[in-house]
Amino acid sequence: MDSSTIEQISKIQLIYDACNAVFSQKELPNFQQIQWLRNLLDITTAIDLGIDEFGLCGSPPTSPKSVEGLICGQGVRNITYIHIHECDNFSMGVFCFPAGGVLPLHDHPGMTVFTKLLYGSVYVKAYDWVKVMNSGCQTFGLASRAVDGIFKAPCEASVLFPRSGGNIHSFTALTPCAILDVLSPPYSEELGRPSTYFSDFHIPSLPGYAMLEEKDLPDDLVVTGAPYVGPRINVA
Ligand SMILES: [Fe+2]
Repeated sequence: MDSSTIEQISKIQLIYDACNAVFSQKELPNFQQIQWLRNLLDITTAIDLGIDEFGLCGSPPTSPKSVEGLICGQGVRNITYIHIHECDNFSMGVFCFPAGGVLPLHDHPGMTVFTKLLYGSVYVKAYDWVKVMNSGCQTFGLASRAVDGIFKAPCEASVLFPRSGGNIHSFTALTPCAILDVLSPPYSEELGRPSTYFSDFHIPSLPGYAMLEEKDLPDDLVVTGAPYVGPRINVA
């Protein structure tokens, strides 16, 4: 494949093709595969996904889509999820946040997740289970803190695994920001991979750890859907 051919392939197509190759093996990616995916995410910008980081639009609050056809990053009033693709092995999408938007602590059961901050600043808190228990239908237990810090674009893509890297995480947007998420396998209630939300309780005598307790989907969590308007993906 010569360079002129490569230039014609969209970033999202490159990501799709890599995900299709890596995640169809249905096992954890190896180091080279992780680096391959991270490198592809790192060269991807909001505009590659049909999102105008600086767009104000002047669009009504219920519609973050601009007349030019791009999603306006500064125009979102709620956390907005742009669904890009989902198949049995992986899903891809972008969360656009207004400043102050909070995606509370939630888990990714049995999943590997690649995350790329496309623009803006976000506070990330993440945990991994040390000891998880179930009583009735509630999940709770001791977790160790894996991430507790502010990420400001441009920064490298991060990855979390089923048991490490901060599988349970929350995002608090410090400015308008957008996060590209690649999940493998995707969430599925039917296949035992629901999204569960948690509260965290710090333990003064055990710094770096917290008790996590399952909670209902927060009433004040509003996630609006928006169409994907980036380059079309040729699905294998
Ligand atoms: Fe997440």
